[in-house]
Amino acid sequence: MIRKKLIAGNWKMNCLSKDGTALAQAIATEVKANKFNCDFLICPPFTLLGLIKKCLRGSKIALGSQDVHFAEKGAHTGDISPLMLTDLGCGYAIIGHSERRVDHFESNELVCKKAVAAHNAGLNTVICIGESEKEREAGETIKVCQSQIEGSVPNDATAKNTVIAYEPIWAIGTGKTPTSADVQEVHAAIRKALAKKLGTAVANRMRILYGGSVKPNNAAELLSLPDVDGALIGGASLKADDFINIAKNVCK
Ligand code: PGA
Repeated sequence: MIRKKLIAGNWKMNCLSKDGTALAQAIATEVKANKFNCDFLICPPFTLLGLIKKCLRGSKIALGSQDVHFAEKGAHTGDISPLMLTDLGCGYAIIGHSERRVDHFESNELVCKKAVAAHNAGLNTVICIGESEKEREAGETIKVCQSQIEGSVPNDATAKNTVIAYEPIWAIGTGKTPTSADVQEVHAAIRKALAKKLGTAVANRMRILYGGSVKPNNAAELLSLPDVDGALIGGASLKADDFINIAKNVCK
């Protein structure tokens, strides 16, 4: 298998020290106890990165942020630089999540700039793309994803430093998911767009995660699709049992 599955948790703006520590410890214990044939990533809010890093020690679970600024340092009040993240022990940064594209008006150009800066600092990126409900209904899903790949993924992206997450916006936090056939169709189109941009060899090795209402009861089917190489999980990553049961259903 050329692409090892990645099970990634996006905690979003959730957890304080106490519950975040308990959650990370519970997940780390299970990951250590089971020989899962997959990689793991946990992305807590910025405030907990240092604390969660300690909980994950010795567990092989990677730590990631949910965003990053493109500048190395300087006058950017409230922002966090790539070097600040590597300094805390982060290996990854999620970039261009739809909640940032919508809430903070992040464009493909900005997402791309952030990805370049993250890669230069030694971070791997999870670059998120996905269509809105309106775009889906208008039959524009593939066109939207192609243009997001074209605009958001930097030319320096490799299969090592970049993971793509396809997250239909209408499926995030709603309990709705596309059909398996739809997911496979979009993932295959994304891989084709990656091949056009980065070459077939890179595209064939790059992981494309599915995100949007992934739960223990639908993970096995979604993640068995040929072009689905893991999951970016929001709600179900906040319950250790759900997160681990997804891994159990997929990576055993
Ligand atoms: P969800 O979120 O699993 O709660 O739908 C996924 C995401 O936004 O990454």
